[in-house]
Amino acid sequence: MTQEKLNELLRDMSLEEKVGQMIQLPAEVLTGGGLVTGPTGTTQLTDEQVGMAGSVLGIKGAEKIRKLQKQQMAKQPHHIPLLFMLDVINGFETIFPIPLALGCTFSPKMAEEACSAAAAEAAADGLHVTFSPMLDLVRDARWGRVMESPGEDPYLNSEMARAMVRGYQGDLRSKDKVAACLKHFAGYGAPEGGRDYDNVELSERTILEDYLPAYEAAVKEGCRLAMTSFNTLNRVPSSGNKWLLRKILREKMGFEGVVISDYSAVEEMVPHGIAADVREAAKLAVEAGVDIDMVSNAYAGHLAELVRSGEVPEKLVDEAVLRILTLKNDLGLFEDPFRAVDPAETEKVLLRADFRQKARETAAASFVLLKNEGILPLGKKLVAWIGPYVDNREIYGAWSFPERPEETVTIKQGVEAKGLPGMSFARGSYVMDKGRATKFGRIPNPSDEQADAWMEEALKLAASSDRVVMCLGEHKDLTGEAGSRTSLGISKGQMELLRKVRQVNPNIVTVLFCGRPLAVKEIAELSKALLVVWMPGTEGGNAIADVLFGDRVPQGKLSMTFPRSLGQVPVYYNHFATGRPNPPHEIHLFRNGYMDEVNAPLYPFGFGLSYTEFAYSEVKLDRRQMAPGERITASVTVTNAGDVSGVETVQLYLRDPSASVVRPVRSLKGFQKVSLAPGESREVSFSIEEPMLRFYDIEMNYVSEPGRFEVYIGGSSDTENGAEFVLV
Ligand code: NOJ
Repeated sequence: MTQEKLNELLRDMSLEEKVGQMIQLPAEVLTGGGLVTGPTGTTQLTDEQVGMAGSVLGIKGAEKIRKLQKQQMAKQPHHIPLLFMLDVINGFETIFPIPLALGCTFSPKMAEEACSAAAAEAAADGLHVTFSPMLDLVRDARWGRVMESPGEDPYLNSEMARAMVRGYQGDLRSKDKVAACLKHFAGYGAPEGGRDYDNVELSERTILEDYLPAYEAAVKEGCRLAMTSFNTLNRVPSSGNKWLLRKILREKMGFEGVVISDYSAVEEMVPHGIAADVREAAKLAVEAGVDIDMVSNAYAGHLAELVRSGEVPEKLVDEAVLRILTLKNDLGLFEDPFRAVDPAETEKVLLRADFRQKARETAAASFVLLKNEGILPLGKKLVAWIGPYVDNREIYGAWSFPERPEETVTIKQGVEAKGLPGMSFARGSYVMDKGRATKFGRIPNPSDEQADAWMEEALKLAASSDRVVMCLGEHKDLTGEAGSRTSLGISKGQMELLRKVRQVNPNIVTVLFCGRPLAVKEIAELSKALLVVWMPGTEGGNAIADVLFGDRVPQGKLSMTFPRSLGQVPVYYNHFATGRPNPPHEIHLFRNGYMDEVNAPLYPFGFGLSYTEFAYSEVKLDRRQMAPGERITASVTVTNAGDVSGVETVQLYLRDPSASVVRPVRSLKGFQKVSLAPGESREVSFSIEEPMLRFYDIEMNYVSEPGRFEVYIGGSSDTENGAEFVLV
């Protein structure tokens, strides 16, 4: 449809019809099913309002969506097609590793391919929009939603943001693409105490410099939607925050797409305490620039009347509706409301062999080897595989709802597929302790007799094997939305199992499943090797077997810091120096830090081992001085000093040690992955340019300041391999 035709359509629509476009129905209103994650006002809608709603959230199934599209379009006065949206977070039916794990690949290419596969499957299922990428910067592992973010670094997250948007959207008109929705705008990743939905208080400088870049990168890549966040940002809930949505998102970042509220977030401005009632909440949201009210009753109940009474200019509604119609048009829905989806063909796209292959490679690349005292790869040994994750399919993360979970490969299946002799398997314990619940309720526990029998069997196998692989972790439903925790461990039962196994066999490799950095000090001490596998998805078991047997090398690097203990949280690598710094591994009283713990985390951002060792030469700079407009080339030679091939992520960090405001102790500014055969060396170079040195100065101007700078290049954020230059 031409722009002129869209304008014409808009002019022809009644006020009620226009408001309808701005309402998103939850699946339950139309089908009585779907995931409900909070109160929804839309259950109070009249039949006429339901008939005019412009979009639906949370329905899957090509057949079902086609039927609903037909049914709802028939009710629309202008037969406008609806948008069907869903949380496709780390894959649709072929499940990829959770986004935090994707961050650990340090491979935007892999992230793009994962999102491209997810888009193809979701589009074949009839969907138009995914509520992804989630780009909230995360520094607090207590918050359950860290699993949905690429991690704690603005630069890495920005690279991932661009890649994910490209993967989902590509050419939006193509039938295997969906529109992406960046979220949660803004700052949702910094809730006080790590409590979900809690307030966020950040200085403007911190928001602009650390929290906004990844969202902005998605905008620049052409992301078509943005979702507001539940939280207050400096005391203003995002769905009513004009500064955030109009000044920053639209004016500063140039976002031209559709802004959708989070789930009931418009109505929630009443309990937040900035709207006296839902009517006022609707007014605040539309003024701030929220185009679609996700599942609350605010726009449905009050927007038309607010316009009629003159309190809200109709122009605001028209602008919002035009943006929504434009998105529908760009998706090709006016020409074909079904986007050529043929339900008979959908099955052929879901779980395609090439998607599964990518999922396997990506999962393996996301695993982070935190410790290895020469015990991995496993080699030809008698191996006992013990723990509740040995034969467990719930390894796809909190935001995946595969229709065919039986397609998920467990560790046991992955190991058996290798066809090696000497493998034995025992469950040992359950993931959750007796009486403990996840957010979706209690999980059945074994009887005491059963638990004892499991333990006995596990110890027997452990004692009679050369190696034990402990497959442990936190339950997926202790992570994700509403998954905040005040402890960062695994269940007592699993710890008891690990301690007892250790008494009969110290040759332990622990494979750890988690959706957040856990406090793993004791687990690491009890194990000779520790491999974090996050929630790896459909091909998890195969990927784990590949890595443990050395068919693939571990190459992941942490995209979020692992603390020594819960008390260190929030702990992140790009913090600020104080006037009384403590050496990271020492405790000195009356200096910055704790009296009972050092400041260094257990495993820092960027850290991850391989089966080989990489040696770095000193950092070479081609010049020691540069002016704006010039560049310095910083290089190192990386050598594979071991006897197996390996993949290293070479990381560039910069520091501005003296500026008009305090700068982070270091900031990631580049990374490159290199694959090296044993003995092979490669020179890796980074270009340093003046814009990379900019920040918000004391006057809030985005500038660089002349002076000395430090450069670090290495395989982790704590590398001391450095050099210096001067910006004149
Ligand atoms: C609430 C979550 O915060 C958001 O991330 C999600 O996209 C919506 N619910 C829709 O499910």
